[in-house]
Amino acid sequence: MDHPSPDTPPQLLIGEAEIAARIDELARHIATDFGPDFVMVVVLKGAFLFAGDLLRALGRHQVRPRVEFFGVASYGAGRQTSGDPVPWTAIPAVTGQRVLLIEDVLDSGLTVTYATNALLQAGASQVRVCALLDKPTGRRTPFDADYVGFTIPDRFVVGYGIDWAERWRELPYVAAVD
Ligand code: IMP
Ligand code: MG
Repeated sequence: MDHPSPDTPPQLLIGEAEIAARIDELARHIATDFGPDFVMVVVLKGAFLFAGDLLRALGRHQVRPRVEFFGVASYGAGRQTSGDPVPWTAIPAVTGQRVLLIEDVLDSGLTVTYATNALLQAGASQVRVCALLDKPTGRRTPFDADYVGFTIPDRFVVGYGIDWAERWRELPYVAAVD
């Protein structure tokens, strides 16, 4: 096969124990830095496992936020962003609330910029972003996340909730397919 396809077996990049340890550090940092008073808004679908583990880690630090979901599509079946994020759920009700936006991968920055602006327009008083993975070399618009799990090179990753054409979300670790 000349090019990888969604069938190509992924290679381990970040293991389960490393992810769990980093999420505990992130939760401790968020609890002390952002405090307990915020709504967690999870960007669907790739961030759902990360958000679940982060939520439980926050609970161990006595932080118990309301949880909402925001569907934003940008990829379709390919490995390149369409460049035009499209919402596929209603914007969560966040008027007057501080928001912690949970994203799986930050790449071009377009998805998180779109979601942040949508939540601010919906009346959020503040939006901070927590991303499991950051690929800073992929930026097409400047964006700095407030909390980042791991900074990674510009590789296409799957696992731990993150898909390629809806495959590989079930892997308990983060893997690269290129
Ligand atoms: P951005 O809009 O280019 O920053 O891309 C962010 C969105 O694209 C995220 O919500 C991810 O779901 C998806 N994405 C970015 N990089 C990857 C990847 O390596 N694997 C799978 N999805 C990715
Ligand atoms: Mg996504």
